[in-house]
Amino acid sequence: MTSLQLGALHTAPVAESDLLSQIDVSSLPRHIAIIMDGNGRWAHRRRLPRIAGHRAGAQAVREAVETCSRLGVQALSLYAFSAENWKRPKTEIDTLMALLREYLQRELAEIHRNNIRLQILGHYERLPREVRTDLDDALVLTSGNTGMVLNVALNYSARAEIADAVNSILLERAHAANGTGTAIQANITEEMISNHLYTRGLPDPDLLIRTSGEMRVSNFLLWQIAYAEIWVTDTCWPDFTKKHLLQAVIDFQKRERRYGGLGSNGA
Ligand code: IPE
Ligand code: IPE
Ligand code: MG
Repeated sequence: MTSLQLGALHTAPVAESDLLSQIDVSSLPRHIAIIMDGNGRWAHRRRLPRIAGHRAGAQAVREAVETCSRLGVQALSLYAFSAENWKRPKTEIDTLMALLREYLQRELAEIHRNNIRLQILGHYERLPREVRTDLDDALVLTSGNTGMVLNVALNYSARAEIADAVNSILLERAHAANGTGTAIQANITEEMISNHLYTRGLPDPDLLIRTSGEMRVSNFLLWQIAYAEIWVTDTCWPDFTKKHLLQAVIDFQKRERRYGGLGSNGA
């Protein structure tokens, strides 16, 4: 399926306007999540250092953000750095952090102009101080914006997010029970967990995109993607364009979401 999608894009070039005309704006995915993978392989194929792939990837981020915001998607979640990515060589991590700062310096004004509200998913307080400062400034600047929510996952682990949610529910209860002698009950519901995740208040992703052909979720939004439609392309992230995103939305709109029930024809 993935190579067919790519083949279609490569062999018969489609105009962006053709793709746009196929999209039904009344049934857009409310929330799109993207695992931006394949920067290293993109660079390797060009005999470039991995970091060149990360740099090229930053350009693709710009296009994805702009496209989703213009389409009217409510939330876009981008997986930028996982809690497991600390296993990489220090030089690669340092460059990724520097690129993140460069990205913010270059794009923040545009993000703000487009009424986008930035949120960070993950323990970004563990990032280097100068990165945290830039992120804090960006969060403050965009906090009142009412357009698309842009979630950037940094030092993110979905399992940690779920554990954090349970801990914060227990903490709330302990505060509420403080001094009243109320027993803490073991009745944590799914709704409570959803309401304590980093993404609380946002709809769950309807569409999960992963680039570079890997068929795994790599600890991203495990709770929230329970019923997301998954779209994988062999294209590496730096080559991911507006057309790929539009194609993903078109394919999403052809899917039948059943949520455990029966299809529309009863089958
Ligand atoms: C995704 O590209 C970016 C990050 C995980 C930070 P990779 O760096 O994982 O690229 P590949 O998977 O090695 O090609
Ligand atoms: C997932 O990609 C994390 C990000 C895109 C930031 P990885 O490259 O880290 O995932 P694995 O190791 O291939 O599962
Ligand atoms: Mg990877």
